Amino acid sequence: MKADWRHKDLLGIQELSVEEINLVLDTAAAFKEVGERTVKKVPSLRGKTLVNLFIEPSTRTRTSFELAAKRLSADVININTTASSLVKGETLKDTALNLQALNADIIVIRHSAAGAAHFLARLLKASIVNAGDGAHEHPTQALLDAYTIREKRGRIEGLNVTILGDILYSRVARSNILLLTKLGAHVTLAGPSTLVPRVFEQFGCRVTYDIEEAIRDADVINLLRIQHERQRKTMFPSIGEYTAMFGLNKERFARLKPDSLIMHPGPINRGVEIDSDIADCERSVILEQVTNGLAVRMAVLFLCAGGNISES
Ligand code: CP
Repeated sequence: MKADWRHKDLLGIQELSVEEINLVLDTAAAFKEVGERTVKKVPSLRGKTLVNLFIEPSTRTRTSFELAAKRLSADVININTTASSLVKGETLKDTALNLQALNADIIVIRHSAAGAAHFLARLLKASIVNAGDGAHEHPTQALLDAYTIREKRGRIEGLNVTILGDILYSRVARSNILLLTKLGAHVTLAGPSTLVPRVFEQFGCRVTYDIEEAIRDADVINLLRIQHERQRKTMFPSIGEYTAMFGLNKERFARLKPDSLIMHPGPINRGVEIDSDIADCERSVILEQVTNGLAVRMAVLFLCAGGNISES
């Protein structure tokens, strides 16, 4: 069934139907082709203004949204929060209302507080795109991960996907779990028990603390970074012990299915959750995820602005 996009905002995967997820992925496929042309630009968002409001560090997501908006011919403003009036005590609400007063059409927000994007979506007429809110959701990361799996394997339904590492504090894990289970993948979560509570079984995932069991049948292994910035106290004895117990090293890699995909949302910690050579090996699609993220974000901006690819 072909879906229509009925959302002003993209706040999370939770709010999306299977048809809407597939619509984003199909629209992204059309935009990926634009990125391979000599002139990598279309006029879809000409006259629109996009504000990148990143109140947490980012390399991939911020750059990707900026480039996506520029490829769609939007005007782009990047707010550098350390040089903004937020550091003088201005609230997020007042910052947002000022952006509305300047007629921003789309605001892409990253914030350390879960719910920050939802708050702006209720407050403003502009489209709000969640670029990561605390440990809650990072919907465009899950969409680009799904795009990459679908592109590489031709499907998502029925695949065994293992997400390994810091699940508890990871918005990437939450959005991936929601998306992959909606699309019919078998999701396994693994890592230290302090970072992978059994409560995640309620989302329809298998939880295991046995790394060999987690990786044995995996078609896809998505490795997550240990998020020291979100952990209130050390959740395992040492980084060295984490690497020994759960890192994807060469011995474990040799026991994987020969066609399994190695994924990571970045930033990677070489030698911690992933061996440096494995990060760069042929089965690693880490940089392809970044390339696909651009097409996925073009699709999200286009759809939130009311676009319809079959009419363009
Ligand atoms: N994957 C991801 O969100 O990376 P950045 O923090 O660099 O945006």
